[in-house]
Amino acid sequence: MTAVDNFFFLVFPYICLTTFVVGHVWRYRYDKFGWTTRSSQWYESRLLRWASPMFHFGLLGVLLGHFGGLVIPESWTNALGINENVYHSVAVVLGSIAGIVMVIGLVGLIWRRRSTPAVFRATTRMDKAMYVVLGTVVALGLFNTLYWQILAGGYNYRETVSIWFRSIFYFNPDVTLIAEAPLSFQLHAIAAFSLLALWPFTRLVHVLSAPVGYLWRPYVVYRSKDSHSQPGNRDPRPGWERPGLTPTKK
Ligand code: HEM
Repeated sequence: MTAVDNFFFLVFPYICLTTFVVGHVWRYRYDKFGWTTRSSQWYESRLLRWASPMFHFGLLGVLLGHFGGLVIPESWTNALGINENVYHSVAVVLGSIAGIVMVIGLVGLIWRRRSTPAVFRATTRMDKAMYVVLGTVVALGLFNTLYWQILAGGYNYRETVSIWFRSIFYFNPDVTLIAEAPLSFQLHAIAAFSLLALWPFTRLVHVLSAPVGYLWRPYVVYRSKDSHSQPGNRDPRPGWERPGLTPTKK
């Protein structure tokens, strides 16, 4: 274990996690109106229509896989009768599919951003840095799965990388474990933590503001101002009243 290992696998993760938390508080306090995806659907929607769902659904699969592989200890899946061979086969098939779908979506999104002048003009310097780091994380992750797990016969990262990952959150990082993992696993983890540090200063803040209330709020109803239009004789539900009209009680 060298000083470089200690920096990247002990100090750096905490710098990034702290920046992630403090950065979000700062951004929320000082840039509430800039808290947005900076949507560019207005400028281009043909590529966005397939690239965005592919990227986001692929990402969802990848993150579920990371939860299973990094957060859930190997001993738990063993106790459920899922041995390393079964786990490995399922993880490789599902991980490869999700990773490839995500990469195709990401390539589509970056191509769209570069090839549509209006979208490119609306891309900030911070966004460009974020796309480079995100692309690096995804490329290294997919390399780990396709090269190490398929071509090289398999690497059980649940005995090294995953234990180190969890140990960060117990505030007792076991650097020796990640230090013995293949370089591409180490670089993938460093790139992923760098992405967390950039997160609050980019459009990625939108991830923390899923519009959940949107599912239940009343529709925004557009009506003509035509005085002849009849509102009907049924009382509207609360929140659905016609502007300017008070509900009549029968
Ligand atoms: C420190 C955090 C992370 C660690 C320790 C980590 C670790 C890993 C490991 C061990 C694999 C190989 C999985 C396998 O072969 O079965 C992997 C694959 C992958 N990772 Fe990560 N990862 C992290 C964060 C991320 C993030 C934030 C993203 C994307 C935004 C990401 C994207 C991917 C992708 C696309 C793959 C390949 C597809 C897959 O197997 O799911 N990773 N990662």
